[in-house]
Amino acid sequence: MSALTPTLSQRERESKAVIQTIGLTREYQMGSVILHALRGIDLTVYQGDFIALMGASGSGKSTLLSLIGLLDRATAGEYFLEEIEVSSLSRNELADIRGRRIGFIFQNFNLLPRFSAWENVALPLKAARRHRPCAGHTTGSDSCRRTHRQSR
Ligand SMILES: Nc1ncnc2c1ncn2[C@@H]1O[C@H](COP(=O)(O)OP(=O)(O)O)[C@@H](O)[C@H]1O
Ligand SMILES: [Mg+2]
Repeated sequence: MSALTPTLSQRERESKAVIQTIGLTREYQMGSVILHALRGIDLTVYQGDFIALMGASGSGKSTLLSLIGLLDRATAGEYFLEEIEVSSLSRNELADIRGRRIGFIFQNFNLLPRFSAWENVALPLKAARRHRPCAGHTTGSDSCRRTHRQSR
């Protein structure tokens, strides 16, 4: 697996590392066998970087994204997200950072079928308590959208 990272100017190099992993390792215990999904990944992503993670099927891309996205914990190694070492944080603290700082676009969308498109979008905002959904308007009605526009 490799990460396609852009060539950085000196100014960008001096900018903040948003993501930094050092020796990030993920092993899965499969009965008596240990499967080494990631063997010590060192990756630095700077503010403003746009990167692609490439590799053969089974090379560990999804595993690494789950760790970077705080959906899973590493077996060993360090992960600094915005300079905070996250491995010692509680599940609630990880969920809080995930809600505020991380966005996922999944291959299979992961939309909740009983919710409208508007409600699917509103749900994480509501969970993050950043945005109060319109009371009594759960389908994204005109009056609800108007309320949002007026409140800006
Ligand atoms: N939950 C799991 N339990 C056991 N092995 C897993 C699990 N998830 C992934 N693996 C193994 O870890 C390796 C990396 O998988 P994955 O990260 O899905 O690769 P990729 O996304 O690059 O195809 C593979 O050998 C896969 O079988
Ligand atoms: Mg994958």
